[in-house]
Amino acid sequence: MSIPSSPDRSGEAYVDTSSLDEFGNVIDAPSRPSITPEPGSLVAGTYHVERELGRGGMGVVYRARDTWLDRTVALKLIVPTWDDALAEQKLQQEAKALATLRDQHVVQVYAFGRHGRSYFFAMEYVAGRSLEAILDDYRQRQSFLPQHRALTILSRIADGLDAAHARGIVHRDVKPGNIVIEEDTGRPVLIDFGLAQQSSDPDPETIEGTPIYMAPEQAGLGADGITVGPWSDIYALGCVAFELLTGRTPYLDRNIVRLLQAHQRAPIPLASSVRPSSLRSMRCSLARSRNTPSIGIRAA
Ligand SMILES: Nc1ncnc2c1ncn2[C@@H]1O[C@H](COP(=O)(O)OP(=O)(O)OP(=O)(O)O)[C@@H](O)[C@H]1O
Ligand SMILES: [Mg+2]
Repeated sequence: MSIPSSPDRSGEAYVDTSSLDEFGNVIDAPSRPSITPEPGSLVAGTYHVERELGRGGMGVVYRARDTWLDRTVALKLIVPTWDDALAEQKLQQEAKALATLRDQHVVQVYAFGRHGRSYFFAMEYVAGRSLEAILDDYRQRQSFLPQHRALTILSRIADGLDAAHARGIVHRDVKPGNIVIEEDTGRPVLIDFGLAQQSSDPDPETIEGTPIYMAPEQAGLGADGITVGPWSDIYALGCVAFELLTGRTPYLDRNIVRLLQAHQRAPIPLASSVRPSSLRSMRCSLARSRNTPSIGIRAA
């Protein structure tokens, strides 16, 4: 059996067209200065910072202790080198989107506040690891997530997305790095609503998201009149399904423009063509139509 190699992580960069050269290759962005607070410090007189959990394009997430309520929380702080007003607005938008949702597969927000020049929100701490880290472990061991586990994760995250969509919220960055699996219970939890928007909002002028999971309409390449909507999250979940089942994402290309074009018009890969032996009972492929919004998973 041939084992697929790790997906090309360069495709995970956010698409900021100012960071692409004329051929669509990523130009390395200057690194941002690191951000306080240090472990051991107190944020907003309440949260005792324990350790960093992760950082991405916009924020840093810490594990902390709420000293009033005596419980562990996760704190997300915005990187303060950004335009402060925009940073505050983006973080608040993320916290507000979470505040409208109540689902066991969507992380719960507790509070929003200010820390020096920076803003933060406190949320439920999910004790576990990201699905991306778990998948990386399987890839390193040259094995696969068991199929029943993959299907459970997918259906639970689909439930979480359903709850968001029912409130008119589109996540726009569904990917393994934004799913945390709780260690004790196996509960998958969708996090990082940093790009979330209301379905009724017009699409932003810049392309935002993660190219290897991005629906054509999110890259501005949808069929006429098709804008980002719940279907775009379902497409991304389809890409995650493909990766969970085969160990690799459906389209791989270091060049972001070619990668986005592949989502739009390359032949749709069948999971069973990448990993035939274990997928006899289930053939899963991405589905795409020129006339209807993109739909992620098709049983074939
Ligand atoms: N509530 C949480 N509980 C446990 N771990 C978390 C939680 N929120 C985030 N993490 C960890 O921190 C990492 C980064 O979180 P998140 O994706 O929200 O931030 P980000 O990627 O910096 O944000 P953005 O993508 O908006 O720049 C996650 O991959 C996860 O490992
Ligand atoms: Mg993230």
